[in-house]
Amino acid sequence: MAIQIEHPCVQHKLGIIRDIETGHKRFRELATEITKFVCYEALKSIKTKEITVETPVAAANCRQIDTDIVVVPILRAGVGMLEGILELVPTARVGFVGLYRDEETKQPVTYYERFPRQINGGTCIVIDPMLATGGSTVAALDLLKGSGAEDIVVICIVTCPEGIALVEAAHPDVKIYAASIDDKLNEKKYIVPGLGDAGDRLFGTSH
Ligand code: PRP
Ligand code: URA
Repeated sequence: MAIQIEHPCVQHKLGIIRDIETGHKRFRELATEITKFVCYEALKSIKTKEITVETPVAAANCRQIDTDIVVVPILRAGVGMLEGILELVPTARVGFVGLYRDEETKQPVTYYERFPRQINGGTCIVIDPMLATGGSTVAALDLLKGSGAEDIVVICIVTCPEGIALVEAAHPDVKIYAASIDDKLNEKKYIVPGLGDAGDRLFGTSH
């Protein structure tokens, strides 16, 4: 299942991050800001437990997050969303998956993986700004589940129906949260209208 975050603050920022005139400094800031909003929504039904806290006046019944949160950026562009998650969940642990999409075949190539042991029993958040064909996300989910993760959500900035369908077919238990579900992929497997090459725009590189 894929959920688009309709909040006006997210949609406003999305309009700016998409803009070809937005430079890498502002792009990075917006990636952080948008991620924070999308993550806020994605963690809405996270496991909590009841606790009692003494205020200066009386005892208050409160709720405390009751799961280890492990955030897993897909290198490289996923790193651009890490700060946004850590601002919201400062105690999150961080694992990494190194994947790039082969320019010719458009298939993901894995070059690195390192996960905290808390993926077993914890809640994993896979982050990548672009879920295009879905190949990279499916590969990351395969690696995580192969290492024992069971409770996983995916957060991206932009996705499209083709990518959602691939992830749903391979991992129907994993929810996808996005600032936008765009129209389609083009012949180069870029999201349309998308925002271009997210890694290049985040880090100021170009092909
Ligand atoms: C981009 C993006 C995703 C992937 C999406 O990464 O950040 O990881 O492509 O495409 P897919 O859904 O079709 O697999 P890229 O391969 O450009 O590597 P980078 O993060 O190093 O720039
Ligand atoms: N990777 C990107 O960075 N952008 C796309 O539109 C597709 C894959």
